[in-house]
This record gives sequence, structure tokens and C-alpha cells, in this order.
Amino acid sequence: MNQVLAVIILGSFWACGDLSSQNLEESEGKQIYKTYCVACHGANGKLKLNEASDLTLSEMTLEERIKNISEGGSMMPAFAEVITEEEIAAVAVYLDELKESN
Ligand code: HEC
Repeated sequence: MNQVLAVIILGSFWACGDLSSQNLEESEGKQIYKTYCVACHGANGKLKLNEASDLTLSEMTLEERIKNISEGGSMMPAFAEVITEEEIAAVAVYLDELKESN
């Protein structure tokens, strides 16, 4: 399911949408999360540092998350200026995986 969403969001990946590139995309989301998000949200999404939300309790849809990550919040930085749209989509997809692993 996550892989299907990733392919829909990342239209550019249709061109090379074989299984290996989709797996690569998933782990990219995790890497981005580890690089940019753990500082406030923690490795398991529950850290809530700097008043961050518990991501495992988030009810946002994938679309809402992409918008939220791009534009930021009162305390959360706007990542549209930091990482690419593809990277934002990848990390937004990864949050589903994170929820399932908790
Ligand atoms: C500087 C701390 C900080 C960093 C870094 C950060 N966040 Fe946040 N995040 C927050 C805070 C604080 C909130 C609560 C909303 C607000 O006030 O900004 C939040 C809320 C969210 C929400 C909304 C959850 C909900 O349902 O309300 C999502 C999704 C989210 N962050 C994802 C991410 C992702 C993905 C990254 C990495 C690309 C990230 N955050 C990096 C602080 C951070």
C-alpha cells in the first residue's frame, strides 16, 4: 500500500517503477526522517520535543502531511525550503510505516 502511494505521489518514478526502485524510495523516506525529523519527533515518532506532535497518533492523510511538512507549523520548520518535493513525499509516506511499527 505504501509503495503504491509512493508511486502515485512520485509521478516521476513511473518511468522506473520496478520493485527495487520502490524499495529504495521507502528507505529514502526513513533516511530523510532520521536526518531531519528525529530531533523533535524522535526515532519512534513519540518524542514530542519542542512541543512536537506524537506522529504515531497523527490522523492526517498523506496529502495533509505533505502540506504540513512543506509549510511547517508554529514550531515546526517549513521543509519546502530544505528538501525537495520528492523527499517530502517520501518522508510523508514513511510516516505510515512508522505508525505501523509502533
Ligand atoms: C524543530 C522541531 C521539529 C522538527 C525538526 C520537525 N517537526 Fe514535525 N512538528 C513539530 C511540532 C512542534 C509540531 C506540532 C505543530 C506545530 O506547532 O508546529 C509538529 C507536527 C508535525 C506533524 C503533524 C502531526 C499532526 O497530526 O498534527 C507532522 C506530520 C510532522 N510534524 C512531521 C514532521 C516530519 C516528517 C519532519 C521531518 C521532515 C518533522 N516533522 C520535523 C516539530 C518539528
